[in-house]
Formats: sequence, C-alpha cells, structure tokens
Amino acid sequence: MNRTIRCTVNGKKKELSVDIRQSLLEVLREELGLISVKQGCAAGECGACTVLIDNVPIDACLYLAVWADGRSIRTVEGESKNDKLSRVQQAFVDEGAVQCGICTPGFVMAATAFVEKHQGQKVTRNEIRRGLAGNLCRCTGYDTIITAVKKSLDEDFFCYDENSGGRRFRPA
Ligand code: FES
Ligand code: FES
Repeated sequence: MNRTIRCTVNGKKKELSVDIRQSLLEVLREELGLISVKQGCAAGECGACTVLIDNVPIDACLYLAVWADGRSIRTVEGESKNDKLSRVQQAFVDEGAVQCGICTPGFVMAATAFVEKHQGQKVTRNEIRRGLAGNLCRCTGYDTIITAVKKSLDEDFFCYDENSGGRRFRPA
C-alpha cells in the first residue's frame, strides 16, 4: 500500500508516493538517487545511514519513509553550497578523516548535528566521542574524525583534552 508524503529534502520540496513498509534509506537512495546514504548493518547499529531529520541525526534504515511526512531531511549531498564544502566536510578532508569512506557520510551528518548543537559550548574530545557513539568506522579512523569535528567548531568553541592533562586549546 502506498501513501503520499510531502517533505523537504536538502532544501527542496518533494512529494513522493512511498510504500508504507519502505525505509527512508530505501526511498532516499532508490527514489531520489541520494547514494551518500549508505546501508551498512540495516539494523540501527552502525550509523552509516545517518541523515538529519529536522536537524536531528537519525538512522534512516530504521525510519519509515511515511514518518518523514512534513519533515525536513538533510543528507551529505545538500551540505556543500556553491561548490564549497561545508565546514565539517572540509575538516574531514583536511584531517584525512576518511579511509574506505563507507562510514563517512553518516559521520559527516552526525558531526554536523553535533557541531550545530554545541556551538559556543565547552566540550571535550571524549564528549565528541560520546556524541558520535552511534557511528562506527571499520577502518578505525576515530582520532582523525574527532579532530575533524574539533576543527569544525568556531573560534568560540573550546576543547579540553583530558588525555593531555586537561589542557585547554582552541581548534586550529
Ligand atoms: S545501516 Fe542504518 S544503522 Fe547501519
Ligand atoms: S572509513 Fe572505512 S568504515 Fe570508516
């Protein structure tokens, strides 16, 4: 059985007829061609399918497409503007926070939500780790990912590195 939903995807209004059993992951990839949204575990464990729904990171594999009716969805495809990478995307590139890249779109979206939520707040590297705990990287590039998130934050954002005796630093 199909149902019509209306939502905004990467800033564009969409009207879609979706099977009520379809996941948002399937609709984004197969109907809209947004193949940055990866299917890893398909069970809510790995975070590879993370998208932002009303700016909250959500596993698209566990989220029915019909639930997206009236909501705003963001994927990696919509994060660069005028051929310029977003701050988070650029930080991932600069820090080499990518290996095979399968986990990367999900990490970028989870990191984007984290950065937007914590602007101007004091956070530690461990808090960043906890904030991204729903995203797994089989290539284990976690340190560079954490550093990329740190660098994504503006000048008012301070990090405390517990592993360096609590030294406070500004992201470079
Ligand atoms: S594919 Fe959705 S959490 Fe792994
Ligand atoms: S870069 Fe390969 S899974 Fe993360």
